[in-house]
Amino acid sequence: MRTHVITHGCQMNEYDTLTIQSELVAGGHDLVDHPSDAELILLNTCAVRGKPVEKVVSILGDLRKERRAGRDVVIGLMGCLAQLDEGRDLADKFGVDLLVGPGAITDIVPAIEALEQARGSRGREPRVRVDRLAFRGDLVDHLTPPPPPGTLTGYLTIMRGCDHHCTYCIVPQTRGPEVSRPLAAIVHEAEAMRAQGVDEVVLLGQNVNSYGRDDPGLPSFAELLRAVAAVGFPRVKFTTSHPMNFTSDVIDAIAETANVCDYVHLPVQSGSDRVLRRMAREYRRERYLDIVRELRERVPDVVLTTDIIVGFPGETEEDFEQTLSLYDEARFDAAYMFAYSARPGTPAHARFEDLPREIKSERLGRLVERQKHWSLEGNRRFEGREVRVLVKELGRDGAHAVGHSDQHHTVLVPAVQVKRMGLHAVRVEHATPHALYGGVVGAASDGVALPLAS
Ligand code: 5AD
Ligand code: SF4
Repeated sequence: MRTHVITHGCQMNEYDTLTIQSELVAGGHDLVDHPSDAELILLNTCAVRGKPVEKVVSILGDLRKERRAGRDVVIGLMGCLAQLDEGRDLADKFGVDLLVGPGAITDIVPAIEALEQARGSRGREPRVRVDRLAFRGDLVDHLTPPPPPGTLTGYLTIMRGCDHHCTYCIVPQTRGPEVSRPLAAIVHEAEAMRAQGVDEVVLLGQNVNSYGRDDPGLPSFAELLRAVAAVGFPRVKFTTSHPMNFTSDVIDAIAETANVCDYVHLPVQSGSDRVLRRMAREYRRERYLDIVRELRERVPDVVLTTDIIVGFPGETEEDFEQTLSLYDEARFDAAYMFAYSARPGTPAHARFEDLPREIKSERLGRLVERQKHWSLEGNRRFEGREVRVLVKELGRDGAHAVGHSDQHHTVLVPAVQVKRMGLHAVRVEHATPHALYGGVVGAASDGVALPLAS
């Protein structure tokens, strides 16, 4: 079938989409660029907040209209939403044909075959549903082929699932318990990516620092980081870290391994101990700040980013001010800031009452302003310095080329200075809260690491 896959959500979903696409091609299906050309549309969904779910509802609504107008198209719901009752209810409502959970993505081809058979034999609109949260032995061993030639950043899943039970979060239910992938599979994928010309590999997991804890035969995350770095990428990044499992040996690996980037994404979620407790985050504000201090001491150039939820049920003005004051101590370079979104099926949804929307958005606005201040301060540290940038695309204005620094800043350079995409040495001239602007002072060919002058 001519198939189009629509991907929402995190980098994990983007990586899963690569697996889904390679399975489809191996199963004899064609990939098409536009949904309007497709006979089968697969939606790889996110369920972490209400907004991504609303997006799916709107797409399903449009497709239902097209079908009513006579279009013959098969619709599949995949990803986190497909694993939840909420997704099943939507599937019923909008006539979705295939429901395949995130633990069953390698079953997509048999699921399509089962659907075709059922349709042929019964002559009605049947539904095929596959959800499987026990990944071990199949999905974790499954090798995702390298991304297409010309890809500069490659994502590599090192583990799936999450053993934490943060009360706001639906992920443990959609992706199941933590399962680490075998070291050999990870290194094999990394080598294939590097051979394909990928310059930057991003190791992915809901909680990468827990890597190996589920299997005594596996190395620790810090050891894995060094093993992937040894494959020879100019850059190795990883996300997401959990403060509970963020150990000093990971800081050592960042400090001692040149190509492990000085960039850490460490979600804090709240600066108030009372709220952290209600979120079941398993650490307190001081423990988080200890990690930040150690990190900044050992890796002075480190760029630190975070996730924050404002307006968690019961959050008082005082609690929120604790978050603001944590900001002033941690000085995050950037943050993904979210208003709490009650997710059916989570403990917080069952136990706590949601705060009024106005309070949440007012606090979010104040936090965004504070973040802007610290982002600008953080970015200004790099003014006048040389950074190494992986230039990946032409900017929307057409005048700039856009890429990311080793420390993960967005960097813009005049497009005329860029002959081809890839690694460049850039002198930073000007910083804004969101980006660094500079000029190219040299290009690194074939991904050869340039020394970073400070
Ligand atoms: N509401 C708002 N934000 C959430 N996140 C996870 N669940 C929710 C929720 N129910 C945020 C957290 C997490 C990021 C991926 O999404 O900050 O780190
Ligand atoms: Fe969700 Fe917490 Fe696990 Fe992150 S660590 S995926 S927020 S339960």
